[in-house]
Amino acid sequence: MGFRRMGWHELLWIGRVLVLMLLVHGVIGWGKEGHYAVCKIAEGYLTEDALATVKELLPDSAKGELASVCSWPDDIKWYYNWHWSSSLHYVDTPDFKCNYKYWRDCHDLAGHKNSCVTGAIFNYTRQLFSAYQDYKPKLKYNLTEALMFLAHFMGDVHQPLHVGFTGDLGGNTITVHWYRRKTNLHHVWDTMIIDSALKTFYGSDLAIMIQAIQRNITDAWSNDIPSWEYCGHHHTVCPNLYASESVRLACKFAYRNATPGSTLEDDYFLSRLPIVEKRLAQGGIRLAAVLNRIFTSEVKIARA
Ligand SMILES: *[C@@H]1O[C@H](CO)[C@@H](O)[C@H](O)[C@H]1NC(C)=O
Ligand SMILES: *[C@@H]1O[C@H](CO)[C@@H](O)[C@H](O)[C@H]1NC(C)=O
Ligand SMILES: *[C@@H]1O[C@H](CO)[C@@H](O)[C@H](O)[C@H]1NC(C)=O
Repeated sequence: MGFRRMGWHELLWIGRVLVLMLLVHGVIGWGKEGHYAVCKIAEGYLTEDALATVKELLPDSAKGELASVCSWPDDIKWYYNWHWSSSLHYVDTPDFKCNYKYWRDCHDLAGHKNSCVTGAIFNYTRQLFSAYQDYKPKLKYNLTEALMFLAHFMGDVHQPLHVGFTGDLGGNTITVHWYRRKTNLHHVWDTMIIDSALKTFYGSDLAIMIQAIQRNITDAWSNDIPSWEYCGHHHTVCPNLYASESVRLACKFAYRNATPGSTLEDDYFLSRLPIVEKRLAQGGIRLAAVLNRIFTSEVKIARA
């Protein structure tokens, strides 16, 4: 097919796919391990009501395990009819400002409103909340998809470079060496820090890494958990808060000492790993908190 016969829409789409393929590791969010960890941690903090509803909504392929489908939005976004969802994985902020504002940073894209990770968290929370808590829910959404999107984006918004700078696409255009491997800063935070931690400290076993994080949740961080869960009075979810934290961490830890061309080794790895592990924990605890609020039966009983 010649280009003349294609509409601007197709050309635009091909252009975007090419850019995305170049950045293939970039816009993905925590790698599979990171998303699995966030959702596994969340599973342990679901109430009985929430767990039962989550299991009803999960596709059969999940075999009742939320964590097993938490990377689904990364798997589908390459398909033409899901392409609109690829900008929901992140929100970019102005270069070097180190702050985030919803009205400033979350944009409408190609006819889709609020196409950014915080917009998506509001969106899918609203869909599920309406279905489970409204007296007359509007049943127009696929709630299985809403759950899988929400679980995934709650992870992404906690990855500091998913709320990074516009100019470097959240670290995607910052080429660095991770030990001897050439990669980019975004990928270091999605995947490499976790991979190196698995190999160095956890016998390449993700379950052991998750247990170590869980131990901290019940131990070193236990006093902080209520403040992680808290969202302001009567709010179901507060992604703007999570995004603000992320961009601050991006400035303080991710971008610092990671200029283009630098080599990142033990100093960087060992000082950033605790940040990554804490963000996985916060993502998990907060995902459980929002699902518990959405799927509680108390409101319904109170309203009935
Ligand atoms: C909200 O969800 C619907 C259904 O998946 C989708 O069409 C829309 O683009 C979403 N918007 C955002 C901001 O997530
Ligand atoms: C809801 O979405 C899931 C995942 O995309 C799909 O497998 C399922 O068929 C959808 N359900 C309906 C009723 O469309
Ligand atoms: C556990 O918490 C301590 C103290 O905050 C921290 O140094 C350590 O890296 C954490 N370990 C994990 C696995 O989260």
